[in-house]
Amino acid sequence: MSNAKFELDGKVFEFPVIEGTEGEKAVDITKLRGETGYVTIDSGYGNTGSCTSAITFLDGEKGILHYRGYPIEQLAEKSNFTEVSYLLLNGKLPTEAELKAFDKAIADNSELPAGVKTILDAFPKDAHPMGVLSSVVSALTAFYPELLGAELSKSEQDKSIAQLMGQVKVAMTYFFSKSVGKAPKATNAALSYSEDFLSMMFNSNDAIDPEVVNALDILLVLHADHEQNCSTSTVRMVGSSHANIFATIAAGIDALWGPLHGGANQAVLEMLEEIQNDGGDYKKFLEKAKDKNDSFRLMGFGHRVYKNFDPRAKIIKKACDTVLTKLNVNDPLLKIAKGLEEEALKDPYFVERKLYPNVDFYSGIIYKALGIPTNMFTAMFVLGRLPGWLAQWKELRESGARISRPRQIYTGETARDYVEMNKR
Ligand code: SDX
Repeated sequence: MSNAKFELDGKVFEFPVIEGTEGEKAVDITKLRGETGYVTIDSGYGNTGSCTSAITFLDGEKGILHYRGYPIEQLAEKSNFTEVSYLLLNGKLPTEAELKAFDKAIADNSELPAGVKTILDAFPKDAHPMGVLSSVVSALTAFYPELLGAELSKSEQDKSIAQLMGQVKVAMTYFFSKSVGKAPKATNAALSYSEDFLSMMFNSNDAIDPEVVNALDILLVLHADHEQNCSTSTVRMVGSSHANIFATIAAGIDALWGPLHGGANQAVLEMLEEIQNDGGDYKKFLEKAKDKNDSFRLMGFGHRVYKNFDPRAKIIKKACDTVLTKLNVNDPLLKIAKGLEEEALKDPYFVERKLYPNVDFYSGIIYKALGIPTNMFTAMFVLGRLPGWLAQWKELRESGARISRPRQIYTGETARDYVEMNKR
């Protein structure tokens, strides 16, 4: 690859160009400031790569998403959540024995310390599950001092990964059960990850409808990773300081909570219910979304990277029809969502800006059909994204990456002397 040439202050500087395995190209500006005194500015990092990574590839123009090279469509149809989690974490699909051992490690490390249950019991019943999850994951630092070191051994790393995959699932269902006045149900190692979650969530001893289990598993697979999105970049940022794994994941949870990111799935449902309560005229709300003077946005639409259909949204939309039919659920919100999508996809405002439905647009309708409360939708995103965060954290630490420390351009007051305004 020929170098990139920058001409600055009459001088020409050359910087190497790197190319990824899928043909993506980047100018490596690691030495830019040292050689030119300049830094770059890229608000929102839309043009800036923070790392090289071998985990997830996505092509926003073509609507392509691969986990370790496998197309998301194939994984959603043929794989399952813990197999995909293993793939993201280890770079290859597990053998039967490897998957069994991974599932067992998760099951064996799912139990919450009694002190964490006391913390969960202390939360008000209407606490937002994202705040509960973030607090509980941080609180785990108090119960596993042996896992707080900056350098974990392989076995410590494997244990903490399996433990987080299990304990986050248990913490979510424990808090939900208590919030509805039920005694939490223990995890059952004989069940698959998704079936165990649903069984604990609904406190049920009956077998869970396989269609419901399959629908949840597909949703978790689709949410498992998405390269350097806001919350994953946060995980990498915090992980780069060698903070412990619990603090790192808690930071990811907090970043995901925002309505522009993972919080959008809850915001979509609230938007659809607002439209329904307003009489169902979704065209009126489409106009509001286009009005710069109106803060209303079409939640679940648009994406920083996808300028075509989010491939996950396509799969979820199809699953919506299947699941609601199988469960004999007739949700008027699905009709409103489909109407909104149909109108937006032919509206110049959305077409010109390449705004398509994203992963959050239809997922809430399925969660609702599965009986999951709206304020838990973003926590469901945490459950799905956890293996992706962990895989990206693992890759970051194994790469020996330096601490992340972006630069800035200062635009404040220039140097001035202090004037005593108030007597000490
Ligand atoms: C996720 O990055 C990831 O990979 C995230 C994610 C993952 O798996 O981790 O895919 C998960 O977070 C999906 C996104 C969920 N968020 C939403 O659905 C919230 C609604 N969407 C928007 O807020 C917005 O589209 C973002 C936040 C998703 C993207 O924001 P950008 O890239 O900063 O785009 P922008 O705000 O600069 O918008 C460009 C234009 C603007 O109009 P103009 O100034 O050019 O006139 O498009 C408009 C925006 O006003 N626009 C919208 C819109 N999204 C963008 N207008 C109305 N409704 C919207 N939803």
